[in-house]
Amino acid sequence: MRKEIALSLVLVLLLALSGCAGKQEPAGDNTSIVVGFSQLGAESSWRIANTASMEQAAKDAGYGLMMENANQKQEKQIDAIRSFIAYRVDVIVFSPIVETGWDNVLTEAKQAGIPVILMDRMIETQDDSLYTAYIGADFYAEGRRAGEYLIRKADATGAEHLNIVEICGTTDSTPMRDRQRGFMDVIRKDDRFSVIDSVDGDFLRSKGEECMRELLAKYGADGIDVIYSHNDSMTLGALDVLESANDPSVKDMILITVDGEKEAVDALKAGRINCVVQCTPQLGPAVMKLVAELNAGKELPKVNHPNEGAFTDFDNLSDPAVEGF
Ligand code: AHR
Repeated sequence: MRKEIALSLVLVLLLALSGCAGKQEPAGDNTSIVVGFSQLGAESSWRIANTASMEQAAKDAGYGLMMENANQKQEKQIDAIRSFIAYRVDVIVFSPIVETGWDNVLTEAKQAGIPVILMDRMIETQDDSLYTAYIGADFYAEGRRAGEYLIRKADATGAEHLNIVEICGTTDSTPMRDRQRGFMDVIRKDDRFSVIDSVDGDFLRSKGEECMRELLAKYGADGIDVIYSHNDSMTLGALDVLESANDPSVKDMILITVDGEKEAVDALKAGRINCVVQCTPQLGPAVMKLVAELNAGKELPKVNHPNEGAFTDFDNLSDPAVEGF
């Protein structure tokens, strides 16, 4: 019996050692690469599509993917990153729920010699060496696209004054901050527009509904001309509330949303939404490409944005290129 236990211990030790040795094989042997991925949650269809894209791309590249879902909790993301460091993964990819509060854990990753790729969201830090690269949308440009659409729409309809309500994503997250800043930078100097309220919808459909109920109670449907919502999930929640309000002013409202999921693009085609600013969740293949380049010893560009645009009611919406994810 004692002999069997000793043998098992030796086997465990050998497996552990071969695991460590495996990770030092030359570049090109994908099976030895392990990516630790801290996903922030499952708050929206966008996020679910993003997780699926990461899983599929890791599989296609032949990489091991250790994924932890933080259910919208920063502490859980920090714990996940620490567990990836303890495991000595080859690369850490993570999507930070908010921008601040990462310096300590990322310093630990740096000291352990593990490169970090920020995916989808940025961090606020004085020390850029804490991450190797960022890959994700240019949220500021998305906000600007939303504002530019609104100006075009106001010009086309001859609107004299429009009251805007903004349903924001998670407070202090990159898309919330930059979609707001980009939008405001475009419309600020145009006195046809007043942002009468900005509320936190946390990127959740249920919160989008809740926010819309409160906004309707506060301003009435005739007091709101434009809804600028930071993602489709919240927009679709708000739309459910608007359409069940049975108020004729609702049909004159201008709805601007961000993401481009199928349900939102279908709503645009049906005339229920006016503008869908695109934000792609399909980041997995580009992330794995960066991992491969890193593994081959290449220097990565610090910031990597996908190409994105917007679909609007000015477009030919029967064009097959107008489709959601
Ligand atoms: O960070 C990207 C944003 O997060 C998407 O717009 C939103 O749907 C998601 O929850």
